[in-house]
Amino acid sequence: MRRLRSGKIRDLVRETSLGVDDLIYPMFVDETTDSSVDISSMPGIQRLPLDKVVDDAKEAADLGIPALVLFGIPKHKDAVGTCSHGEDDIVQQAVRSIKEDLGKDMVVITDVCMCEYTDHGHCGIVDMDTEDVLNDPTLDILGKIATSHVEAGADIVAPSGMMDGMIGAIRNSLDENHFENTPIMSYAAKYTSAFYGPFREAADSGFQFGDRSTYQMDPANSNEAIREAELDILEGADIIMVKPALPYLDIIYRIKNEFKMPTAAYNVSGEYSMLKAAAEKGWLDEKLVMYESLLSIKRAGADMILTYFAKDLARMLK
Ligand code: PBG
Repeated sequence: MRRLRSGKIRDLVRETSLGVDDLIYPMFVDETTDSSVDISSMPGIQRLPLDKVVDDAKEAADLGIPALVLFGIPKHKDAVGTCSHGEDDIVQQAVRSIKEDLGKDMVVITDVCMCEYTDHGHCGIVDMDTEDVLNDPTLDILGKIATSHVEAGADIVAPSGMMDGMIGAIRNSLDENHFENTPIMSYAAKYTSAFYGPFREAADSGFQFGDRSTYQMDPANSNEAIREAELDILEGADIIMVKPALPYLDIIYRIKNEFKMPTAAYNVSGEYSMLKAAAEKGWLDEKLVMYESLLSIKRAGADMILTYFAKDLARMLK
């Protein structure tokens, strides 16, 4: 086996490649601040006011990153996420500004979910007496959020709330509004994961009671991920996502092999923070572990990776 392991021959037999084209850069646009706010648990990542979001998106485009995904932090939160689907709400404004500047040079994806816009922090409408997250009453709002994002100029919508039927509801809403050409990237297999911890600080989307286990998947399950993905594909999903990525490489592998669909993986906040923290302590070589981790996600079957390392990796590859 060692005959093929050195020099240019090693390059010739390489099975997987990782490039800047594979990357999707997550960004947080914050309506509550005029200046950038560091996220302490995610070194290098910030919540940005509108004007700075455009600058950061330009920087990503200059580095050759083809796509970003936007999360919004609104000024006002309430029980029903009123500020999620207005024409001048924060994500809609950010999409318009980025598109005005970058046009076709940046694919703008928007996260479609209620948790950043509700005061209770759950991903749907809640029955306050029982604390149940209500599935069907949430679908209508998700359709409105997605459509408002596309009206503002979003290229792809990415529903992340794990409500049953959300892909079908969003597809219908987009089609009714003549956005039949806009793709949906579904967070199809999204697990109840402790690796989202730092994100909840980033997006100010922690929940006030209960947890997300009535809608996000049990980390113990694998066949269920196949059923989730299958339903989303039948409802009209164009890209299937697995989230988190590194602890779920087996799920990425199974989904890619089962459906042969364009498959995305979300290298989530906790995965980022772990490597950053170990690197800060000098325990790991940051560049090498970043590259190896992202390469492994591709090797497992992902076609694209949502990662907070996007700019770091793009700089490294330059
Ligand atoms: C919102 C959402 C979450 C993430 C992406 N979209 C958080 C959650 O479900 O609690 C997590 C991303 C990350 O940890 O990087 N539904």
